[in-house]
Amino acid sequence: HSVESGFFQWSAPSNIALVKYWGKKDNQIPANPSVSFTLNNCKTITKLAFAKKNISTALNVTANNFSFDLLFEGQPKEDFKPKIQKFLERIEIYLPFLKDYHFTIDTENTFPHSSGIASSASGMAALAMNLMSLEKALNPEMTEDYFYQKASLLARLGSGSACRSVKGQVVVWGNHANISESSDLFGVEFPRAIHANFTNFQDTILLVDKGEKQVSSTLGHDLMHNHPFAERRFAQAHENLNQLIAIFESGNLDEFIKIVESEALTLHAMMMTSMPYFILMKPNTLEIINAIWKFRNETKIPVCFTLDAGANVHVLYPENVSEKVLQFIQNELVGYCQNGQYICDKIGNGAVLI
Ligand code: PMV
Repeated sequence: HSVESGFFQWSAPSNIALVKYWGKKDNQIPANPSVSFTLNNCKTITKLAFAKKNISTALNVTANNFSFDLLFEGQPKEDFKPKIQKFLERIEIYLPFLKDYHFTIDTENTFPHSSGIASSASGMAALAMNLMSLEKALNPEMTEDYFYQKASLLARLGSGSACRSVKGQVVVWGNHANISESSDLFGVEFPRAIHANFTNFQDTILLVDKGEKQVSSTLGHDLMHNHPFAERRFAQAHENLNQLIAIFESGNLDEFIKIVESEALTLHAMMMTSMPYFILMKPNTLEIINAIWKFRNETKIPVCFTLDAGANVHVLYPENVSEKVLQFIQNELVGYCQNGQYICDKIGNGAVLI
C-alpha cells in the first residue's frame, strides 16, 4: 500500500487517576497498576498532516531522520520538539514507516495554557491516535481492538498516564490479578459494569498554583527507585485497586472516598519521604482539603478530593449533588484558587476522530 499525503485529526482527553501510577521500570512499564476516570472537557486536539518524502530524500542518509514541524495554537513551537523527537525514536520500532513521511503536527488544548493541568496525557494520546490512523491507512485489515490497544501502547511510550486517555470512562493500566484483561503495556476499559452512582461523575479542577511543575514526573518516578517505602506502596496500590473493583460494582461512595483521598495523600507522602524530598502542596491546597472535609462532615454530601503531582485539587462528586457542591465551591473554595480559576469537567469517553 502506498499512502502519499493527507491528514487526520483526533481529540484526546486528559484523565485523573484514582489509584496513582508513581514509579516505573524500563520502557515505561509501571511499578504498580493504576485506574483513572477519563475526563470529558480537558482535551488536546491534534491535526497530523503527512506527506511521503520523495525517493531521493528518503534515500539520502543524512536526511534520513524524522522530519516534522510542530505548531501549537497555530504558531511554531520549537521547545516542544525534543519531546516529540524522543517519542518518535521510542515508537519507531512499532511504526517502521515514520521516516518515510514529513509530518506537520498542529495541536491545541481546550484548557488554558500553563493552567497547571498537565497536557502530556491528552497530547501524547492525541498524537498516538493520529499515527495509528496512518498505520491503519497502510494496513486496512487491522481490527478495532488492535487499533486501540496499539494506540494506547504508543501513548504510554510518550507519557505513561497517556495510555489511560485513549478509552473511557474508567481505565485500568497495569497487570492486576483480579482483572484478567489488564496489561502493563496499555490501558483497558474497566471490563465490568459500573454502578450508576458513577454515571456522569463530576470533576471540578481547582487551579491553586499555575506555575511550572516543581518536579517533573520523570524525576518523580525515578525517586521511587531506592525509596524506603516503595515495595509497600506498590503492594498497597494492588490492594486499593482491588477494593475499587468492588466499589465500582456496589456504588459505595463512602468507601470510594476513603480509597481515593488516601491514594492522593499517599502520592504526596511518597514525594515527601523520597531523597531528595518535595512538598508539592501549597497552603491553599490544605485549606481546600480541610474545607472539603468540614463540608462533607456537616452535609454528608459524598464529595472528595484527589491530587496530581502538584498543588491543584480535583473535586470529585456524583452528578446528583452537583448544584450543592458547585455552590460550596463558589462560596468557599474559589477564594483559594489563583485568579479564582477552576475548570468544570466530568467523566468522559476517550479519544475521538474528528
Ligand atoms: O504520565 P506521567 O509520567 O506524567 O505520570 C503521571 C503520574 C501522576 O499523574 C502523578 C499519577 C497518575 O497515575 O496519573
